[in-house]
Amino acid sequence: MPVSEAPFVALHGVTRRWNGAGGVQGVSLAVPRGAFVSILGPSGCGKSTLLRLLAGLETPQEGRIEIAGRDVTARSPAERGLSMVFQSYALFPHLNVRENILFGMKVRRATRPEREQALARATAMTGLQGLERRKPAELSGGQRQRVALARAVVSGQPLCLMDEPLSNLDAKLRHTVRRDIKALQRRLGLTVIYVTHDQAEAMSLSDHVVLMREGRTEQTGAPETLYHRPATPFVARFIGDPPMALVEGAALGEAGQIGIRIEALERVPEGRADLTARVADAEYLGAETRLLLDHPQAEGLALILPGRVALAPGETVGLHLPEKHRVRFGAQAEAAAARDRGAAAAATRDGREAALPSPSTREDTR
Ligand SMILES: Nc1ncnc2c1ncn2[C@@H]1O[C@H](COP(=O)(O)OP(=O)(O)OP(=O)(O)O)[C@@H](O)[C@H]1O
Ligand SMILES: [Mg+2]
Repeated sequence: MPVSEAPFVALHGVTRRWNGAGGVQGVSLAVPRGAFVSILGPSGCGKSTLLRLLAGLETPQEGRIEIAGRDVTARSPAERGLSMVFQSYALFPHLNVRENILFGMKVRRATRPEREQALARATAMTGLQGLERRKPAELSGGQRQRVALARAVVSGQPLCLMDEPLSNLDAKLRHTVRRDIKALQRRLGLTVIYVTHDQAEAMSLSDHVVLMREGRTEQTGAPETLYHRPATPFVARFIGDPPMALVEGAALGEAGQIGIRIEALERVPEGRADLTARVADAEYLGAETRLLLDHPQAEGLALILPGRVALAPGETVGLHLPEKHRVRFGAQAEAAAARDRGAAAAATRDGREAALPSPSTREDTR
């Protein structure tokens, strides 16, 4: 995206709270056209509130929302040019699957062949063939969710908001529908804003991830930026499975805290080690051995070594933490992050916002 192009979706210092609690606070965000953006974070951090504000189902107490260059802050959902797939599917109970999926198209007066083609594509994609005549009450939760997805697919709106759209699907279907959503988004050039608490889902689907914490954005960026360069220990703990190991700087002769991905840890003779850890558990998995490690000044230490490694719980291993893989969190990292979040809100008052880089300008942090 050229720098001069305005973001397709923009939030400027948006706040919606209830009696001074919950909701979202001072959130600013700029989403380029055609991007796939995930809103990620633990339960209750404000993801659904943020999406409902974008959809027009909630009104901000402060701030401004723009879609396609228009201020839509006071506009109704129908005036915002978007489709929604939400946790609660909101289907029309008196309409069958076919009618629910085609409802928006009928309103827009699409021709019959257009409607049939769209229906066939959407039902095939979501595995709903054969269920077209059923009413929502005659469907399982997962099937209802797929009807909502199919409806968004045929709506033809340029912006699609999804709130945990796969939460009622079984693991296998979750995976295939996830790939379908991504393929569809690319093919149609849709801008998708996708809420999930599943970091793997967010990482694999998105151009950008917005990690939220207690109503504010903790860090926004490309998945690999959050993975390799988390801004705070909270991000380091939330992103990746396993998460980043965190070591007290004191154990390494430094101040603050050091984060490091376990795949970057190297086993070295103890005499040359930065850190000596104790084996808590050893798991042989055929191709590799996974060692869970304990150190009094570290959390999440582990080592994956090729083949079978004969190390028993209680034995010690020497670890080298290569300099270029160390992520430093200041002694006051958490407090600094809180200040940054406050500064982000202040930045909007100057008319600036936390812009997401476009996919083409992604920094390579590897
Ligand atoms: N209508 C409301 N009235 C009062 N508090 C609310 C309301 N809606 C949301 N909240 C509060 O705002 C906070 C954020 O809620 P939200 O639904 O946005 O969280 P979430 O990130 O979507 O969580 P989950 O992953 O569990 O769906 C929560 O503490 C919630 O209790
Ligand atoms: Mg939610």
